[in-house]
Amino acid sequence: MKKRVYSGIRATGRLHLGNYLGAVKGMLALQDEYDCIFSVVDSHTITVPYDPKTLKQSVREIILDYLAAGLDPKKCHLEIQSMVPQHIELSYYLATIYPVSRLEDLPTYKDKKAQYPKYVNMGLLYYPVLMAADVLLYKGELVPVGIDQEPHLEVMREIARKFNGMFGQTFPEPQRFKTEGEYVPSLAGGGKMSKSVEGSYITLTDDLETIRKRLAAAPTDSGQIGGELPKEGGVANLFKLLKLLKLDVEYKKFEQDYRDKKIRYTELKEVLAKAIYEELQPFQEKRKIFKEDPKLVDDIIDEGNRKCLQMADRTMGEVKKKMGLI
Ligand code: TRP
Repeated sequence: MKKRVYSGIRATGRLHLGNYLGAVKGMLALQDEYDCIFSVVDSHTITVPYDPKTLKQSVREIILDYLAAGLDPKKCHLEIQSMVPQHIELSYYLATIYPVSRLEDLPTYKDKKAQYPKYVNMGLLYYPVLMAADVLLYKGELVPVGIDQEPHLEVMREIARKFNGMFGQTFPEPQRFKTEGEYVPSLAGGGKMSKSVEGSYITLTDDLETIRKRLAAAPTDSGQIGGELPKEGGVANLFKLLKLLKLDVEYKKFEQDYRDKKIRYTELKEVLAKAIYEELQPFQEKRKIFKEDPKLVDDIIDEGNRKCLQMADRTMGEVKKKMGLI
């Protein structure tokens, strides 16, 4: 039996190159070897301020991105979280065995509280419980997400352990699954490529000119520093991108140029722009085909939903029986 993998992406706008190289390409590699469910977690999306008028479209765009990137509905299950109401149902049952104090202490909750002081809602506190329910609903064992999600995975395991202890062995204890290239640097100097940092990202539908423009704005230095490559900052990030795009020969050349104080960043950026565009071009072509065939996409969503509902029903039956509800 193949191990079950579950992962979800929140529907906050379109995916960018960071999601693509970090999360989605990792997903692609998994679909052949594991029994995967990839979800758009729209119920998680609404825990922070959002626009109800555009949410549905954002969910759809991510499904298109998934399909264009090569997630194959014949190999994995695609899910829209809110179409499987058992996520919410299970999360409530799991919430009844988990302490509030532990949730209040989570760094992710504290961060969001600081970010949206006027929007501290129950859903936000509940976020990790719902996330636990997402994975446990399908008895997922492996969760391909970034290191920032580790605290949530700990909660997930605690909940699974506690449930198993109270009601009998039911759930596996899911582990984070590290996939290649999960950290994609920002174009804005430091940190990670992020939709919420202007100037940090490249979107998956950018054409070559737009990619060039975005890279042109990325900070560098005078090119006269020499010595070892810096470990962080704009220049370090450009080199990280070369590596992520597997431009090893070019990396060595520009590293030598840097040492010799003759590096030309316009040249490096042009190499990067072309490589990024080449990486994105097949994606863009495939996306267009799906975008122009809404019926096909509807059918894919319906089929994924049908299968997920079946699996979810099975787990809910077992959970309710064990908890003495039926
Ligand atoms: N919390 C995850 C994130 O912010 C999204 C998410 C929700 C998720 N439910 C999940 C990821 C279940 C993996 C499995 O990226």
